[in-house]
Amino acid sequence: MTAEIIDGKKLAQLVLDEVAKAVVDMSRPPGLAVVLAGDDPASHVYVNGKAKRAKEVGFHAELKLLPADVSEVELLAVIDALNGRDEIDGILVQLPLPAHLNTLRIMAAVDPSKDVDGLHALNAGLLSQGAEGLIPCTPLGCMKLIKSVVPDLTGSHAVVIGSSNIVGKPVAALLLAEQATVTQAHIHTRDTQFICRGADILVSAVGKPGLVRGDWIKPRAVVIDVGTTRVRQPDGKMRTVGDVAFDEAVEVAGAITPVPGGVGPMTIACLMENTLRAARARNAHAAA
Ligand code: GUN
Repeated sequence: MTAEIIDGKKLAQLVLDEVAKAVVDMSRPPGLAVVLAGDDPASHVYVNGKAKRAKEVGFHAELKLLPADVSEVELLAVIDALNGRDEIDGILVQLPLPAHLNTLRIMAAVDPSKDVDGLHALNAGLLSQGAEGLIPCTPLGCMKLIKSVVPDLTGSHAVVIGSSNIVGKPVAALLLAEQATVTQAHIHTRDTQFICRGADILVSAVGKPGLVRGDWIKPRAVVIDVGTTRVRQPDGKMRTVGDVAFDEAVEVAGAITPVPGGVGPMTIACLMENTLRAARARNAHAAA
């Protein structure tokens, strides 16, 4: 039997529809600022997509494009100005940043109440304590995808491959908060394949095409592929591929996300949901 294909586009649209519906009743539209430093073509595609979606759901959206050699002081000044503007509820600084910029220092400069990426140490700390804060978008999207097929994760074994601040660590924290038993594998893990075979839920966030083979997967497991790597096809065309050998995995798993069309659309939808949450929280705070 082949796996259920989890339709990330469809689930993302449901989230976007809910956000758009909520915006209609608000006294002012939520405001999202997306900041990009540098000229990485993939990052340009991502930030344009985020700003476009934001406008589609009725947000005020701004794109701040900065040169690749922008200094840390200049970037911090841009963030500071956005922190101070009332009509901006969410600030997203697209990663990766150019190598000369210190990512943690930049993340720390974003007002935690506007940190719709959930990467400020305060929000990361709240998540690790199981407390309420803004949650990184891709992990939030992964959880919605998982829960669309397994609503109760209590006692299930979840394996996360990857330990980045942006996906691996927060997704592990969210799975733990749902009472799963979580194993985190990373580049130094011995016999990742063996560990994966015990996973009821397998999340791969590595960026290595074909890493997860069909025989790594427990029969009927839920497989979430966060990998997005652009590869050149034999015909010269570029294609986005995940970490999972999809054609093999689909024969073993119970449910699986495709790449593209799985996690990607959910990430953007969750960014809109986070921005709406931030706007509501800031409005409630202003009214109090
Ligand atoms: N680069 C790739 N994914 C993301 C994301 O979710 N947030 C930010 N800020 N940068 C990214």
